[in-house]
Amino acid sequence: MSLSTVSTAPTAPEASYTDLGALRRQDPELADVLAAEAARQSEGLQLVAAENFTSPAVLTALGSPLANKYAEGYPGARHHGGCELVDIAERIAVDRAKALFGAEHANVQAHSGSSAVLALLAALLRPGDTVLAMGLPYGGHLTHGSPTNFSGRWFDFVGYGVDAESGLIDYDQVHALARSHRPKAIVCGSISYPRHIDYAAFRAIADDVGAYLIADAAHPLGLVAGGAAPNPVPHADVVCATTHKVLRGPRGGLLLCGAELAHRIDRAVFPFTQGGAQMHTIAAKAVAFGEAATPSFTAYAHQVVANARTLADALADGGFAITTGGTDTHLILADPAPLGVEAHSARGRLAPPGSSSTPAPCRTATPADCASAPPPSRPRA
Ligand SMILES: Cc1ncc(COP(=O)(O)O)c(C=O)c1O
Repeated sequence: MSLSTVSTAPTAPEASYTDLGALRRQDPELADVLAAEAARQSEGLQLVAAENFTSPAVLTALGSPLANKYAEGYPGARHHGGCELVDIAERIAVDRAKALFGAEHANVQAHSGSSAVLALLAALLRPGDTVLAMGLPYGGHLTHGSPTNFSGRWFDFVGYGVDAESGLIDYDQVHALARSHRPKAIVCGSISYPRHIDYAAFRAIADDVGAYLIADAAHPLGLVAGGAAPNPVPHADVVCATTHKVLRGPRGGLLLCGAELAHRIDRAVFPFTQGGAQMHTIAAKAVAFGEAATPSFTAYAHQVVANARTLADALADGGFAITTGGTDTHLILADPAPLGVEAHSARGRLAPPGSSSTPAPCRTATPADCASAPPPSRPRA
C-alpha cells in the first residue's frame, strides 16, 4: 500500500492529541500526577543514562488515535481490517530505520528492549543453548542471563567480565571463554560500559567458534544514528536496541538484521512472543527515526558525548574514581568510594532539597567491586 493508493489527507479537524485540559476536567487526580511528573522532569537533575526527553512530535504520535488500532501481523498481511493507514506508518518506520542504520531488514514491533532480546533469542536458539554475554555484575542487562529473567532460566549463560584495573573488556578473556564453552551465540552490549565496543573483534571471536553475534545496542544506538559511535550492523547477525535512550524516541524495541534472518526475526516477534503491534508507538518510532536522520541530531549526539566527557572530567576533579578513565559515550561509571561515600548515599544527595526524587546513575557497582565477586564464568543476580 503506498501513499498514492491510500489517502492520508485529514477529513476531520485535527484534534489536539495531548489535551491536558480534557484530562483535568475528567480526571483531575491523574492530571495532577502528569503535571507533577512534567515538573519533576523539568525542574530536577535527571542523570539516568537510559532515559531521554522525546520531542513534542514524538509525544503527539504516542497520544494519537493510532493507539486505538489493533494490527496483528505485518503491513499488507494483517489479521485485522482497517489497517491501511497504520500499514503506511509501519512501512515508513521500517524504511527509515533501515536507511538510518544501513540494515537490510528492520522489525519495529518489539514492545521493549527486553521483548527484542526475547524475540531474537527465540529466533536463533533452542532452550538450553549456551550464550556468552557480559556478566551482570560487570554491566550485562537482566536479559543477558539473570536467573530472575527468562534468559537465565531458559538458556545457559556464561558471563565475561571487564579488567579489574582498566575497566575495559578483555577480548582475550572473551575469546578464551568462547573457545572453552562453544556458545551458540555471543552477546556484546551492556547497560553501563562507557567505551566503544570493538564489534569487529567480537565478530572474529564469534566466527572462530561458529556462534551468532548479537549486538545489544540499546544504549549506543542513538549515538550510532548521529555518527558518534561505531555501527554494529555490519558486524552482528542481529542488532537489538531500545528506541527511548539516546535515540530520543518512544519507549520501545527495535531489531535489525540481514535479509536471510528477516523472516525468522519477524516470526519470532509476531506471533511467537507478541500479539498486536502498538501502532501509536511505531508511528512515534518513525518520527524519532526521521528526527535522528537530521544534521541537528548528528550535532546533538556529538554534544551528548562532549557533555558526558566534561562531566566525567569534573567528577574526576572532584575526587570520584572514573572507571576506564572517562567515556566515549553518554555513560559514566563514577565511583564515589574515594570520597568516603557509597553509591546509594551519593545518589540520595543529588536529590533536590525537599524532594523525594533521586536522579539515579544506572548502576551502583564497579568492576573493581566485582573483582571480589565470583569469577565471571557465571553471572550473579
Ligand atoms: C543493554 C540493554 N538491553 C536491554 C534493555 C531492556 O530494555 P527495556 O527496559 O525496554 O526492556 C536495556 C534497558 O536498559 C539495556 O540497557
